[in-house]
Amino acid sequence: MKYIKTFSENIEVSQVALGCMRIADMSASEAERYISEAVELGYNYFDHADIYGGGECERVFGSGLALNKSLRDKIIIQTKCGIRKEMYDFSKEHILNSVDNSLKSLGVEKIDVLLLHRPDLLMEPEEVAEAFDYLYESGKVGAFGVSNHSASQIELLKTAVKQDIKINQMQLSITNATMISSGANVNLQNRDGINYDGYLRDYCRLNSITVQPWSPLQHGFISGTFLENPDFEELNIKLRNLAEKYGTTDTGIAIAWLLRLPEKMQPVVGSINVTRLEEISKAADISLSREDWYDIYLTAGYKLP
Ligand SMILES: NC(=O)c1ccc[n+]([C@@H]2O[C@H](COP(=O)([O-])OP(=O)(O)OC[C@H]3O[C@@H](n4cnc5c(N)ncnc54)[C@H](OP(=O)(O)O)[C@@H]3O)[C@@H](O)[C@H]2O)c1
Repeated sequence: MKYIKTFSENIEVSQVALGCMRIADMSASEAERYISEAVELGYNYFDHADIYGGGECERVFGSGLALNKSLRDKIIIQTKCGIRKEMYDFSKEHILNSVDNSLKSLGVEKIDVLLLHRPDLLMEPEEVAEAFDYLYESGKVGAFGVSNHSASQIELLKTAVKQDIKINQMQLSITNATMISSGANVNLQNRDGINYDGYLRDYCRLNSITVQPWSPLQHGFISGTFLENPDFEELNIKLRNLAEKYGTTDTGIAIAWLLRLPEKMQPVVGSINVTRLEEISKAADISLSREDWYDIYLTAGYKLP
């Protein structure tokens, strides 16, 4: 595993984070084992949201932590707020209530990093700023970020929010890489030139914001992995060949492809299979050659003009 600095100059975090969206069905002891084994493998960053499993994921994670009190100090807990049933809500009242609920469910005194989950179309930067000030000053939240936000949406928030926006969590995988391909197809009338995010890669790099790719092994929206998937046969052959070359697995190469980006992204992996988590933790030490990185990009169907 490699370690990087993201939301704090004083804290090193594993370059691969673990997402807890799929843990709702675990018992307390299974959750304790999942967290302990992950920590053993070098992971120290866990991503949540108030809505995962209808709140169950945070509660299950908290029940695991309660069984092994030594774990809390070894990990960073990130959670998100702002999505409600059929609406998004960045009101001060909702942000504060959500954080209180998350603290209770997780059984912790502090959320290390809080993200705004999806841009609220009715967002008032001043209201978010009041919520963040209270959460920071009361010690309930240590640092802040966003998710699924464009560059200009972050700029808008920054007109009022005093704390740094340190993280932007975005969907990004080999098969879902418009954030990357648009940079090689500027001003061209082709699919890969469509920019959906306000050139977010460059913006985040210029502003020291860590991008956290979510669903790094999926091609669909949350579901449908491209690995071992016949619809992506050519890509999978390439990944397996490179896995042999680098002494890892297809999963390992898929994550190494994201880690090769020079701005040091922090993929959020959602596997709860300890064997896969071990493969990925080892793959974090692989550095793909420039030739192999571009080979994967082209095999996935993206263009270089
Ligand atoms: N900010 C947002 O809007 C947003 C949205 C969605 C997710 N997220 C975050 O991102 C995290 C990761 O998302 P994700 O779970 O979609 O990530 P992922 O790592 O792309 O996918 C994990 C899923 O793929 C399965 N998988 C992996 N390799 C496989 C293979 N070779 N064959 C079959 N299945 C395979 C895993 O099963 P096993 O468990 O069996 O390995 C697991 O169910 C979430 O937990 C959440 O924290 C954020």
